[in-house]
Amino acid sequence: MTEALMNLIPAHQFSIEELTNAYNRTRTDYLIPMPMNPGRLQEYITLYDVDLQASQVAIVDDTIVGLGMLGVRKGMGWITRLGVLPEGRRKMVGSAILQALLDGATAKKLSDVWLEVIFGNHPAHELFRKFGFKETRELIVARRPPQTMRNLSAIRDVSKVRYLQHDEVIELHCKRQERMNWLNDAESMRNVRLLANNPFLEESEPFPQHEATRLSGMSVEFLDGSLGWISYQVTTLQLKRISIEVNRGNPQRVTEGILELLHRLHSSQDAVIENIPDDERWTGFKNAGYFEVFRRIEMVHRAA
Ligand SMILES: CC(C)(COP(=O)(O)OP(=O)(O)OC[C@H]1O[C@@H](n2cnc3c(N)ncnc32)[C@H](O)[C@@H]1OP(=O)(O)O)[C@@H](O)C(=O)NCCC(=O)NCCS
Repeated sequence: MTEALMNLIPAHQFSIEELTNAYNRTRTDYLIPMPMNPGRLQEYITLYDVDLQASQVAIVDDTIVGLGMLGVRKGMGWITRLGVLPEGRRKMVGSAILQALLDGATAKKLSDVWLEVIFGNHPAHELFRKFGFKETRELIVARRPPQTMRNLSAIRDVSKVRYLQHDEVIELHCKRQERMNWLNDAESMRNVRLLANNPFLEESEPFPQHEATRLSGMSVEFLDGSLGWISYQVTTLQLKRISIEVNRGNPQRVTEGILELLHRLHSSQDAVIENIPDDERWTGFKNAGYFEVFRRIEMVHRAA
């Protein structure tokens, strides 16, 4: 019955409050609780180039039963926030939304459509496989509480530190060779500036607006010629959007040294990293006090 009555409507026809409310209702039983408020959803839409006209809301009898969003960048797509209300599941609503998002991507001639699914989210993982998405890699979400632990040996060999402004950091992100995940791509970093225009920010955030709208960075050289840089966003309570590139030298040691400098500079903040690959840098993060919270599986759907 549900299938016959269901309609898909572009998400831009709904208010941010309606979309937030619907999203939260699809996630009441989610593996990792991630409730949003309108400010956070607006921030998410801005940072990750979500196209609300190409995003879909499923309606049955005037009630929202599910939704899904499509990010659009440089010929690529990204599916996010897909969810169906618990009482509406296993009735092909998720499939209908996903198909509409993929059709939208095809209409826009997007070659690859990416997404991430939390490790252990069997229903969603199965759904994406059924639609031809293939696993590419595992990505880690991790945190570090503020702590007094010091690792002097990690920075003993630092020879030069240069502090970087937002625009310099963006240039470095643009030159990066490594394929970044959608969340950490240069475009997401560039969009941090746009957060100043978020009309919901002041009422929803516990920090002044100016703190949220730029990235900081450091370029660090070591006595043996090792070299790397970090970029991050500073807020009163948290360091976020942390990203490290190691240009020369041992990735683990360079990462550890850079992080020791960062956390000496910002010793009172909690730190969060999202979607970093399980490589040598991750060992450096762990040695600097980060612990894994959960993993995501990155998947891609390539146009035929
Ligand atoms: C994942 C989700 C969107 C699926 O929506 P849905 O409307 O129930 O899915 P459908 O009825 O269209 O199912 C399509 C396919 O998905 C897979 N699937 C869906 N639910 C499943 C389950 N509980 N167990 C195993 N496979 C499942 C199956 O392959 C199914 O095909 P089949 O019915 O032929 O076996 C829904 O479970 C949900 O909202 N979960 C919570 C939010 C979430 O996890 N979002 C995804 C974040 S990445």
